[in-house]
Amino acid sequence: MSANGNNPMTGEPATASGRWLLAALAVVTALAVSAAVLFRPSPAPAPEDIAKDKFLSKGHALYQMRCVSCHGTLGKGDGPIAKSIVTAPPGDFTDGVWKHGDKPDQMLKVITEGVSGTQMSGWASVFTPSELKAVAGYVYHLAKLPVPAEYRVGWEPGPNDQEDDENP
Ligand code: HEC
Repeated sequence: MSANGNNPMTGEPATASGRWLLAALAVVTALAVSAAVLFRPSPAPAPEDIAKDKFLSKGHALYQMRCVSCHGTLGKGDGPIAKSIVTAPPGDFTDGVWKHGDKPDQMLKVITEGVSGTQMSGWASVFTPSELKAVAGYVYHLAKLPVPAEYRVGWEPGPNDQEDDENP
């Protein structure tokens, strides 16, 4: 036994009260983790106008998860972290001005590859090709532009959508 009462090999408290403290800490941590999991806000459901459209509701869900932080819920470039971006601002999807073009292939390219030197990263390694098209289609929807029909050609909803079928 060392002078301070700790286990001389590990330095951990060897006393019963020390062990109780560790056990109590473990319980508090477990509670905090389960609370965070239980009360985690679920992503907003797809708005009614697109809920029946699997392509757009997929795009909406992906946009909520990955794009809202910068581009904002309505695509106006006013997401919660937009103000802290010091390089080029995210821009406004609804102002009719497209820095990188509004053609379907240009839009898909920006989202797939990103824009170097800005906070807009490429999403090719995160999304499947079908997901890239869905989120690009949703950008058109936010901009109140017709969603390019070519995005829907050969489009696949992906494995997660089975869940949606069970809970319509
Ligand atoms: C970390 C912040 C951030 C996130 C997250 C982000 N973007 Fe961007 N995005 C930007 C910035 C900044 C620009 C402007 C780039 C420039 O000026 O060239 C941009 C540009 C764009 C453009 C081009 C707009 C134009 O005027 O041509 C599109 C389209 C776009 N983003 C879509 C998305 C989509 C879809 C997602 C989610 C998958 C996303 N972005 C996620 C920051 C972000």
